[in-house]
Order: sequence, then C-alpha cells, then structure tokens
Amino acid sequence: MTEAAGLLRARSPLRPTVGIVLGSGLGALADSLNNATRVPYADIPGLPLSTAIGHKGELVLGTIGDTPIAAMSGRFHLYEGYSAQQVASGIRMFRAFGIRRVVLTNAAGGINLEYATGALVLISDHINLQCANPLIGPNDDRLGPRFPDMTDVYASALRIAAKKTADELGIALHEGVYAAMSGPSYETPAEIRFLRAIGADLVGMSTATEAIAANHMGMEVLGISCVTNLAAGLSGKKLQHAEVLEMGRRVSDTFQELLASLLPKLA
Ligand code: HPA
Repeated sequence: MTEAAGLLRARSPLRPTVGIVLGSGLGALADSLNNATRVPYADIPGLPLSTAIGHKGELVLGTIGDTPIAAMSGRFHLYEGYSAQQVASGIRMFRAFGIRRVVLTNAAGGINLEYATGALVLISDHINLQCANPLIGPNDDRLGPRFPDMTDVYASALRIAAKKTADELGIALHEGVYAAMSGPSYETPAEIRFLRAIGADLVGMSTATEAIAANHMGMEVLGISCVTNLAAGLSGKKLQHAEVLEMGRRVSDTFQELLASLLPKLA
C-alpha cells in the first residue's frame, strides 16, 4: 500500500485528506471532479480488479472547488471472490496516501418501511453478517490495535455535519443501521424479517469490511446508502440488479449535490 500511495503521488500533485468510495450506480461524482487524474486499478500495485457491473475500477484524484478529493470509482466485494483483506485494500491505500476521513457510499435495500426508493440514508451503525473481517490474521501493529473498539465507527461528528449540509440544501437524509450480507444472491423475505427483528434498517453487500479496516487505522468514516429498492418481500416484485443501478442513477443528481457540498467540509 506504501508502493500504491507512491504511485498516486507520482501521478498527481493533489494530496487529498478525504476519500470517497462510490457504490453501484453512484459513480457519477468521479466524472464531475475537476483537474482529474484517473488511475486504473490495474496500474496500482496491491489492488485487485473490480469485476461488478456498474463499477468502473479506477481511482480518480481531482478537486471540488479548491479541495482535493480521492474517489474510488468501483469497489471490491466479497461476492466477487476477494478476501476481506483484498476488499479493504483500497481503504488501506487511502490511509497510506494520507487520507484521514472516508465516505463510503452504497446502494442498499430498504428494510425500514419509512424509506421510499430513492431515499438517502446516513449509516449510524452496521451489523456485519458477512462472516468475514479484514482484521483476521496476524495484526499489523503499524496499522492499528489487535482488538479495535467499534463504538463510533460511523463518526457521530461527521453524521452531524452531513445532516446539517443536507438540511441547508433541503435534501432529506434519514439515518439507520446497515446490515451487511455477503451476497451475491439477494436476501429471502424470511431473512429480511430476521434483519428487521435484529434492528436493521437497510441491507447491502458492501461497506462493513471497508468500515472495519478504516476504523482499525483510526480513520473517521461516514456512510451513506441510497435505497435503490425495497428489500425482498416488501414490494411484491422480484429484485433485479438493473433496477438497483437505474435507481442509483436517478438519485445521482441529488446525491452529487450533497457530496459536492459535504466533501470540502470534511477535508
Ligand atoms: N439487498 C442487498 N444488497 C442490495 C440490495 C438489496 O435489496 N439493494 C441494493 N443492494
């Protein structure tokens, strides 16, 4: 990851302190950055290739106003067959590059009946049901402690800042608990009833692994989900990835407006 960070420093003069991971169908922000340098994951030592449809697979360094930003357009998922360490590699590269705060975005199914499709939801906490953790194995003490505390992973200070920004822009922003599943099959209706019973508001196939790795290294995390569909069994319709991507694109403008305002405040 030190080597990866060295490559980024050689490719661009920008030195961002805030990074963002763009979820399914939410990649448009990476195209709107100014002074952009695009680095394909294939060029970056230590990063796997991202294979999921709707995920580009490049790191974009660019600016919003005067603020330098690093954006991962395309992330790594456990369901692609990557280890949890590989899934977390982009976040570890961010840290080696000097990034202190990371915004993790994703497409998610809405379990909480108050969420309509298209709703934006701040992640207040997660329930990791992926049976994977990027910290399993020998601990690298240079990165963080063996047994990291997980009390405030989705930093409350950042959530307050995000709420304030959304209020100023007149954008509705809910808050809820994200249940992380391995996928790639969507959940069954019985699993969704289970997830609701244990306190989940949203369900998705990413984010938790990255959040754990970031928290381990002392980075502050902000998580934002876009509710691309009602979770299995709630709408009477079958779930389709194409619809998830389409809904992601439809909220893309609102989402970008929020991030364009918020990211400079986090730097
Ligand atoms: N379940 C899991 N992951 C998802 C969903 C869902 O309903 N929607 C978007 N990502």
